[in-house]
Amino acid sequence: MAVLKIARMGHPVLLGRADPVGDPTTPELRRLIADMTETLDDSGGIGLAAPQVHVPLRLFIFRVPPHRAGPGPDEQMPELQVVADPEITPDGEAFTEDWEGCLSIPGLRAAVPRHARIRYAGLDRDGAAFNRAAAGLHSRVVQHETDHLDGILYPMRMVDFTRFGFEPELDRYWSDL
Ligand code: NI
Repeated sequence: MAVLKIARMGHPVLLGRADPVGDPTTPELRRLIADMTETLDDSGGIGLAAPQVHVPLRLFIFRVPPHRAGPGPDEQMPELQVVADPEITPDGEAFTEDWEGCLSIPGLRAAVPRHARIRYAGLDRDGAAFNRAAAGLHSRVVQHETDHLDGILYPMRMVDFTRFGFEPELDRYWSDL
């Protein structure tokens, strides 16, 4: 296993449309997932998409830490999740704005609007198809990571650029972080 280098905003690998995975159980993909897991754990992040480690495939991993999860069952996802070839369907019209960071935009955070509730389908680490409901941080992370597969970074989703800043300043001056 290895900690991989993370591409930062400005690198073109973050702006392309990634290719379908198909079968996430090949030895190459299993190794990539293991390396991405080590990279995510090393970084302290919540989610990581393959294009962020310079691999243009429709694959991401994430987990929702228990202290960040809401009370609903569709908000809790404490174990590491592998998602290949995701398809998102908004569940209702509601949007919600909350703070996000990104390992490719280190040191910054912003308030980003996202669909409050979604359903998403994809393949898990064993190649099994699933279709889940997600709300809260779970919903937000899946939308953020799926955006990475389409070359979209969170600043492209922002509407209020006054709520965009460096982490120490936000921690100091914004009580709703
Ligand atoms: Ni990100």
